[in-house]
Amino acid sequence: MKHLALIPGDGIGKEVTEVGMDIIDAISEISSFKYDAELFDIGSERYLRSGELITEEDFDDLGKKDAIYFGAIGDPRVRPGVLEKGILLNMRSRFDQYINLRPVTSWHPFVPLKKHFDFDICFLRENTEDFYMGAGGTFSNGKDATVNIKRRLYDLRVDIHTESSSDDVFAFELGMLSRKGVERFADHAFMTAVKRNEKKITLVDKANVCTSIYGMQREIFSGKAEEYGIELECMYVDAMAMAMVVRPHTFGTVAVPNLFGDILTDLGAQLQGGLGMGASGNINPTGVSMFEPIHGSAPDIAGQGKANPIAAVLAAKMMLDHLGHEDMGTMIQDAVRRCLDDGKYTADLGGKLTTRQMGAEIRKEILGAKR
Ligand code: NAD
Ligand code: IPM
Ligand code: MN
Repeated sequence: MKHLALIPGDGIGKEVTEVGMDIIDAISEISSFKYDAELFDIGSERYLRSGELITEEDFDDLGKKDAIYFGAIGDPRVRPGVLEKGILLNMRSRFDQYINLRPVTSWHPFVPLKKHFDFDICFLRENTEDFYMGAGGTFSNGKDATVNIKRRLYDLRVDIHTESSSDDVFAFELGMLSRKGVERFADHAFMTAVKRNEKKITLVDKANVCTSIYGMQREIFSGKAEEYGIELECMYVDAMAMAMVVRPHTFGTVAVPNLFGDILTDLGAQLQGGLGMGASGNINPTGVSMFEPIHGSAPDIAGQGKANPIAAVLAAKMMLDHLGHEDMGTMIQDAVRRCLDDGKYTADLGGKLTTRQMGAEIRKEILGAKR
């Protein structure tokens, strides 16, 4: 018996996790996978009602679960960052889910590049550090800069803006990597490559500009490459964006720091047909992991039944894989593929189905496969 936490969140997060839970339910009807799910009221509605984002009690309860199934967060009524940082990033860091696993594969006929390439990329996005550490703020150069970092930033800017006046205001956001953080990330990446039987891994960075953080990251990855006997390919993120489109089949395991990973995996979702197709797992290899579509709350289509639930359904698949039911995960993906083959899909892929209709078709495929 697995204990799941369900956090639908905001916007289409609610619509797509409803479908995802239906699919998990169908799986439990036909297999030995048994579960209970506790619904958590976490998201913009609660925040607007009570000012609460996520409480210590929530964290305690979530921490007891076998996995968390998450929809999306984000609401135009709330200032950008409040919900995103206060809820989603908070959970990722509190549960130390330091790997964000985001597969990018040409597994179905609607992959736009499918005519040209077959690819199976395993993106591992570092999920706790880099520019996501929350180390930011503002200062003005008229004030006495007592903290070294302020002085340093100020000096750098003054070199460029020689005419800066005392009322200039600066904003900064620091990207930081810790040696321990990079080491555990690298170990996970190399072990993934070993499991996938690959001879090479790709590390993405911008070591030609952000020399301190990504220089250290390269050094650590090089050491690990020798240790694991696996070749290390280093790519600058700009070139990587291009290469993902022109030679996606040449990549296997790809390790990427947090911010660039966020960006490249939206591109990765589009390589698979769109944001409605990209799933992810926030993995703590020894703790509670959280599974979610990579897309957001999509306020532009929320509440209209237009959202493609496949990303959320595939996130449920990843959750079942993670919980040791890979056969059931495969069954879900096969069911989705049969729907796509049969012309059953939502408007983003050029189809006619609503979110719920799409879910009902996938469910039917799963129940039918058993018969
Ligand atoms: P978004 O991913 O919500 O939407 C981008 C575009 O893709 C929109 O046009 C949307 O309609 C479309 N889209 C996304 N998912 C779709 C689906 N399943 N089916 C069909 N179309 C889909 O990104 P955004 O508009 O930049 O952000 C909206 C809000 O979501 C913001 O508040 C943002 O911070 C938040 N956000 C949250 C997450 C998350 O919870 N993991 C991820 C990304 C963005
Ligand atoms: C994602 C999202 C989040 C991120 C935001 C909402 C904090 O874009 O899951 O990809 O940047 O990681
Ligand atoms: Mn993102």
